[in-house]
Amino acid sequence: MSADRFISGPPEGCRPDWTIDQDWSRYTAEEHRVWVTLYERQTALLPGRACDQFLKGLEALDLHGKGIPDFEVMNLKLKALTGWTVVAVPGLVPDEVFFDHLANRRFPAGSFIRRPDQLDYLEEPDVFHDVFGHVPMLTDPTFADYMKAYGEGGLRAMSLGRLHNLARLYWYTVEFGLMETPQGLRIYGAGIVSSRGESEFSLEDPSPNRLGFDLVRVMRTPYRIDDYQQVYFVLPSLQRLLDDTLQDFGPVYEQLGRLPDIAIAAITPEDRVFTRGTQAYAGAHVA
Ligand code: PHE
Ligand code: FE
Repeated sequence: MSADRFISGPPEGCRPDWTIDQDWSRYTAEEHRVWVTLYERQTALLPGRACDQFLKGLEALDLHGKGIPDFEVMNLKLKALTGWTVVAVPGLVPDEVFFDHLANRRFPAGSFIRRPDQLDYLEEPDVFHDVFGHVPMLTDPTFADYMKAYGEGGLRAMSLGRLHNLARLYWYTVEFGLMETPQGLRIYGAGIVSSRGESEFSLEDPSPNRLGFDLVRVMRTPYRIDDYQQVYFVLPSLQRLLDDTLQDFGPVYEQLGRLPDIAIAAITPEDRVFTRGTQAYAGAHVA
């Protein structure tokens, strides 16, 4: 996701659009080993948990865990599938830069990788989260269109003062989304598929609420960035996500201006409830 703490231009060594060269040959053997460790951990967990689109994307990109992918090689496959490419950035980039990349089917990915002592948690997205987590879904044409539209919508939301609402949509779909399939609930969110703990927690733990996706409802719900989610929203299909978001958000934002936020763990009478969570986990981990 993006950060808004930058007021001036890109740091030294970045292009004006904040991209850098990935410089693949500079990764050390230890850095490649971190990728392989994380890759093997996640691919052992994800069959039967991640959605088919994700698993198929992972195959199609040939990210077979030999080490940190070379973006140039990966981009040849990705571009042929959906027109997307991955560009390297030093870390989080300003919102408008992020949205502009998405609107042009470029996904900004951190090029650094976490240290071996940070396998389970780190604060800024690294190449494992950004590439393993996000890029497989970008091979799906519907999701790929959604992400492009989201970039365009981001610039508009900024101009309307509704970025906080739109950011919640990103959070509860792109990062932490679940979907309903004939085989049961499946993960498509990048924040989940790139996390060992949350890959199990999101689907199997009795603590979080799991509620049907509703656009306005989601945009009224705050989220937490510091721990597992207290609520996950379940899509009926990726097509539904694209269809719901292709509408003009002008009236949606107007409606949001009149409606209060919904407390993070609340369930409303309109919600379709997949799981009424105990919130036991959140209750035991108060910040
Ligand atoms: N349709 C939205 C608008 O009019 C843009 C958007 C598309 C937002 C896809 C999010 C996802 O602002
Ligand atoms: Fe992310």
